[in-house]
Amino acid sequence: MNDLGTLDDLPADYVDALRGANLVPLWPALRNLLPPGAPRTATQPTHWPWASIRPLLLRAGALTPIEKAERRVLVLANPGRGLDNLQASSCIYLGMQLVLPGETAPNHRHTPNAARIVVEGEGACTIVAGEAGPMHRGDLVMTPSGLWHEQHHEGSGPFMWLDVLDLPLMVGLDVSYVIQGDPQQRLRPPSVYAAGGVLPRLHGVRTTARYPLLRYAWTRTREALDALAVSTPQDKRVEVAYVNPETGGDCLDTIAFSAMLLRPGESQVLPKASPARVFHAVEGEGTADVGGTRVSFVQADTFCAPGFASVTLANRSARTPLCLITADESPVHRKLGVFEVRS
Ligand SMILES: [Fe+2]
Repeated sequence: MNDLGTLDDLPADYVDALRGANLVPLWPALRNLLPPGAPRTATQPTHWPWASIRPLLLRAGALTPIEKAERRVLVLANPGRGLDNLQASSCIYLGMQLVLPGETAPNHRHTPNAARIVVEGEGACTIVAGEAGPMHRGDLVMTPSGLWHEQHHEGSGPFMWLDVLDLPLMVGLDVSYVIQGDPQQRLRPPSVYAAGGVLPRLHGVRTTARYPLLRYAWTRTREALDALAVSTPQDKRVEVAYVNPETGGDCLDTIAFSAMLLRPGESQVLPKASPARVFHAVEGEGTADVGGTRVSFVQADTFCAPGFASVTLANRSARTPLCLITADESPVHRKLGVFEVRS
């Protein structure tokens, strides 16, 4: 493929005339917009150690009262995309949020889809679409687009969770906004999807709720991983998907979540797929090779991999399992028909 002309090849008065008419020549930018064979991404493999985030987030609690922050969040930003753009990848935003005892996150709903992974603390409760429930470490709580949600913290220590949103996608589409609401009535009963393969029926009718399950307790996910680990050959990956139990589809329209367990000493090579991926270590410690960048991580660390990056994960403990929750952009890629896996 031949090199194309650049802006420097053009007379300055011609470039000025173009810009004065709100016109831009395509050919100097064409190879970046449509590179041959494979996309280019600004997303860099990035590691956000919990040991770095935690003290800085606690300091934010001392420096900034909740009234001045509304959401006391440190954004896990990808330097390749520009820190001030607040993106982990092209579609995914990550933010570590701190709620101190007695504080609340008032009721609201927004167009971006969101989920949170509980990282530290006890005594907080979330209400999503009228369903109230506790939040424990490793729990994954969904707040899909348009559903009311609020949090309360009646425990005694700091409470922290990792927010995962499709905010960059929604901002890019010019559809991102929030609406504040009055406190919710706790009306919706807790989900009763307690057993695999068995669905609740109210008077013989299955629910038509778009999001029948909003909270995925880590204890149950871990039980599923443990059971799978027993029956899975050592060279196969132990992984479960977080799904809508009524449809089997992704639990959010834009971001897919899964949980992975690597047995002591185990390593796994993940397929090179088009979506960017985020990894959060719920238990254990390990190493990752992300496109040649080595990440050494421990419990509560977070890291990301660009789309099409090779990713090799390894549990560096000889005794304890490594458990990760992952989030990726595959639902968007599948809906747009651009999902790819390359060997
Ligand atoms: Fe929210």
